[in-house]
Amino acid sequence: MDQGSVHTPVADGDCVDCHEPHGGNNSFLLRYPPRIVGGMRVIAATCKACHEAGSPDWFDEFHANEAILDCVVCHNAHGSSEAYQLTRYVKEVYLKASLAEAADLHRRGKLDAAAKAYAKSLKLFPNDVAVVMLLAKVHTAQGEWGKARSGYEKILSIQPGHLEALIGSAGAARHLEGLGAELLFLKKAIEVKPDRADLHFRAGEIYQERNQLQEAIAEFSKAVRIDEDYAPARRRLVEVYESMGMSRDAEEERKILKGLSKE
Ligand code: HEC
Ligand code: HEC
Ligand code: HEC
Repeated sequence: MDQGSVHTPVADGDCVDCHEPHGGNNSFLLRYPPRIVGGMRVIAATCKACHEAGSPDWFDEFHANEAILDCVVCHNAHGSSEAYQLTRYVKEVYLKASLAEAADLHRRGKLDAAAKAYAKSLKLFPNDVAVVMLLAKVHTAQGEWGKARSGYEKILSIQPGHLEALIGSAGAARHLEGLGAELLFLKKAIEVKPDRADLHFRAGEIYQERNQLQEAIAEFSKAVRIDEDYAPARRRLVEVYESMGMSRDAEEERKILKGLSKE
């Protein structure tokens, strides 16, 4: 009775809706006889006494195979620690299987189907950061920027410094709002992880595009300080130095670039 989710008739003390109080022929003194299907006891009749005529959207993806899986495989009749009185089976077996199916679709590039399958797992465990991330990545690959962003936002509301979510948000913001918004997320990502050359490089590109050349130089320089062999950042430095008339600095970078291409 004191678990996270308790079935309403149990919480109300209506035990006799499902159990015979004195005696009967059915196991667990159940009021409605279980059926035996393939040697298995199926008690769905007990549940259908109240739920069969329920909402039309009740027969969703989880309930389509009702003929194979009994209700109490997934729901504890009385209560459990999970929402919907879900059992450990759902978390440990069913969820894993449906995530594996989603990952397989994702790998094979079937993005629409993969998004659907991840969304199904999320319905069960909406705050599972790993699953939210997988779905956001599918939305990113689909170019569904609004959906991708709300996934990354959700992760950031749970773990504010989540690096991948900040980088994902930056990409989504670029498409939804433009470079300024992207830069804000990039800066937050850099705060979390200052030694990622690629983040400084991208920030430099944005500054260069907005013609903030001093800032661009600062970011490209940070990138090559972290990774000396980062040729794209050196090429950008040559470009920016030249456009600013700083030909000696440009020449220096060019020399280093030549050295890199020889290696
Ligand atoms: C919604 C129907 C339903 C209600 C209401 C209900 N039960 Fe049950 N109960 C079941 C089912 C179904 C089983 C068989 C368990 C199974 O197969 O998973 C069961 C099994 C039991 C068992 C034996 C197995 C066990 O889980 O320990 C006890 C004892 C029990 N119920 C007590 C109660 C009491 C006390 C109440 C009221 C507070 C209650 N039940 C309310 C459906 C119900
Ligand atoms: C006596 C009527 C009755 C029976 C029998 C019954 N339920 Fe329920 N069930 C309810 C009521 C009432 C609610 C609450 C509905 C609501 O909140 O909208 C409920 C809610 C639920 C929920 C949703 C819980 C949630 O957190 O939203 C699940 C899952 C559920 N029942 C499963 C079962 C299963 C499985 C059985 C068979 C073991 C069963 N029910 C048998 C009356 C019943
Ligand atoms: C494969 C696992 C599985 C089986 C089997 C299963 N359920 Fe569910 N059920 C779920 C999941 C997951 C949810 C919550 C997500 C959702 O509503 O889609 C749920 C939700 C529900 C709800 C709440 C629906 C709502 O929208 O509030 C009810 C009621 C319910 N189940 C009853 C049953 C009954 C009765 C049976 C057997 C006839 C059954 N379930 C069999 C997994 C299952």
